[in-house]
Amino acid sequence: MVDIAPSLLSANFADLKSELKSIEEAGCSILHYDVMDGHFVPNISFGADILANVHQACKMELDVHLMISDPLFYVDRFIKAGASYISFHIEAMESIEKTRELIKKIKDAGVKASLAINPGTSYEAVLPFLDDIDMILVMSVQPGFGGQKFNPVAIKKIAALSKLKEEKHFIIEVDGGINATTIQDVRKAGCDLFVAGSAVFNQQDRKKAVEALL
Ligand code: DX5
Ligand code: ZN
Repeated sequence: MVDIAPSLLSANFADLKSELKSIEEAGCSILHYDVMDGHFVPNISFGADILANVHQACKMELDVHLMISDPLFYVDRFIKAGASYISFHIEAMESIEKTRELIKKIKDAGVKASLAINPGTSYEAVLPFLDDIDMILVMSVQPGFGGQKFNPVAIKKIAALSKLKEEKHFIIEVDGGINATTIQDVRKAGCDLFVAGSAVFNQQDRKKAVEALL
């Protein structure tokens, strides 16, 4: 299985159909879809309507990363648009109860639920939810932009979470600054799924770019 999830954020949006085709042909079965609201992060990307179009245009599973302040309000639209995974940020949630409510909402819809943590957030923040979630998204950059430098703070968190994987049933995803060099230590630490934006879409030959990460 190819465990690279290319991030659409670095694609050419004027040519989405062939961009999607290029990564499907490179063997990828999961696409990372970064949603930014200009409030939780200082950038704006795309929303649920474009996700529905992407869902129509390819067969890949859609790994939606919500970098938005009110995921509880918007989540239904992304479920309806065809998300397979939905990650939301623990930093955006006002309470444990609301976090549980959102996880339940996602899972009741048959979608995989994931909690994302920023570089400044301890991995311990997700511990109360480990029985309920399908994935943890460990950020290795401050969210908001593609093409940033990998922050090694993610490696220790992934190693600590990885030890808990056998008892519980979740996978670990890393996001930010992943390239052929930085992926090595993250893989060793026990990460399962690797988001790569610029490392894939900034290369002409997408198959070669993906293979360089495997
Ligand atoms: C950053 C996004 C990432 C981004 C990764 O806020 O969450 O998914 O697209 O891009 P690279 O791989 O270029 O760091
Ligand atoms: Zn992302």
